[in-house]
Amino acid sequence: KSNSMWGGRFASGPAAIMEEINASIGFDKKLYAQDIAGSIAHATMLAECDIITVEDRDKIIHGLNTILSEIEAGKFEFSRALEDIHMNVESRLRDLIGDAAGRLHTARSRNDQVALDFRLWVKAELQKTAGLLENLIGAFLVRAEEHTGTVMPGFTHLQTAQPVTFGHHCMAYVEMFGRDLSRVDDALERLDENPLGAAALAGTGFPIDRHMTSKALGFREPTRNSLDTVSDRDFALEMLSLSSICATHLSRLAEEIVIWSTPQFGFVTLSDSFSTGSSIMPQKKNPDAAELVRAKVGRINGALVSLLTVMKGLPLSYSKDMQEDKEQVFDAAESLELALAAMTGMISDLTVNEAAMRKAAGSGYSIATDLADWCVREINMPFRDAHHVTGTAVALAVKKNVPLEKLTLEELQSINPSITEDVFSVLTVKKSVASRTSFGGTAPAQVKKQIRYWIKRMEKR
Ligand code: ARG
Repeated sequence: KSNSMWGGRFASGPAAIMEEINASIGFDKKLYAQDIAGSIAHATMLAECDIITVEDRDKIIHGLNTILSEIEAGKFEFSRALEDIHMNVESRLRDLIGDAAGRLHTARSRNDQVALDFRLWVKAELQKTAGLLENLIGAFLVRAEEHTGTVMPGFTHLQTAQPVTFGHHCMAYVEMFGRDLSRVDDALERLDENPLGAAALAGTGFPIDRHMTSKALGFREPTRNSLDTVSDRDFALEMLSLSSICATHLSRLAEEIVIWSTPQFGFVTLSDSFSTGSSIMPQKKNPDAAELVRAKVGRINGALVSLLTVMKGLPLSYSKDMQEDKEQVFDAAESLELALAAMTGMISDLTVNEAAMRKAAGSGYSIATDLADWCVREINMPFRDAHHVTGTAVALAVKKNVPLEKLTLEELQSINPSITEDVFSVLTVKKSVASRTSFGGTAPAQVKKQIRYWIKRMEKR
């Protein structure tokens, strides 16, 4: 038999395979709450504008609320023959309240309906993401405050570069996740327009009030172009792209945790609650949570590329291709939520091994730049010459297998006779860190300033 929602011109129903490829109820049932909220706002507005009677409105709203409780109680029977969440809800409404149900879809199409439902869902998800990012930033701020004086090696090319502090390193991630958070804010700002009332694609002749539904549904204003409204999935693309960037940050951090927690580095020890053991090697404590966070970015990037590809080349306005917008977004959202929460737990719980960090900070000739800087500052050498002198000193130290500060004054003077005893006063890791006082630098006073800036900024949210 033909579809009861649109089957008027059809003599027979769909082929089995047509039903299978066409149906979205398997995944868009996730949008039930948004769908019902949208319908309640729509019915309320229709009555307010004298398009339906208040009696019909009351029946419709009562029926929709019944459906909401049925779904939440797990008592609702979803039907694949009814294709999607919109028609499943409307069909059940007809069972419950009879003919009045048929008036709900006045001045509306599934095209603006789905655009609304999905937008509301993405909006709620972005708000959740913002909260999770705030938690992660908060966790980092706590660790940063504890460790403004904890020296560790800073790396470039994963080779020892210059000493930094663990607090400074934490604050680098605060900057990254802070930018992610501002991207969420931006996306929410642009998303804040109500699609409902665009109808199929051209708007409607009924005297609807789109400002009224916008207000009821918590949107700033209605969308301005009905064609664009039913075609636009930018809000989902933005969510996916900012999720990809955020997951990339998480992945880099996860990789650092994996490296730092190896016995060879030993900079951090993960708590038992964020590690796993091996079924054969009794000594093992594996950073599985960090590895999974490192991997989640793959699914999220996949979702972004998938939706970009679906949308590419689609003519205006709605095409059924756009039904393929949801599953990947749902999956990406779940992945990012998990990754953010797991990372927050790991950062809060991990033990910082200050002694191992300090030892590593002093190795690998990390203070060579400080020797060069001393030559520039104290004996007025051009930096390029100072670089060469220091390089020669490092080569000598490597040959003697000693750290830079263990070369004797005579040895240093054999490289450049102007060097004095005073040079040794800068050749410590602590001095090196303390000297980097430029804005944004690793000196404890600078890092404390950045922490205060972020605490204030987060308090304002
Ligand atoms: N299930 C559809 C989707 O997710 C709803 C819109 C259907 N509109 C239509 N004209 N067939 O996009």
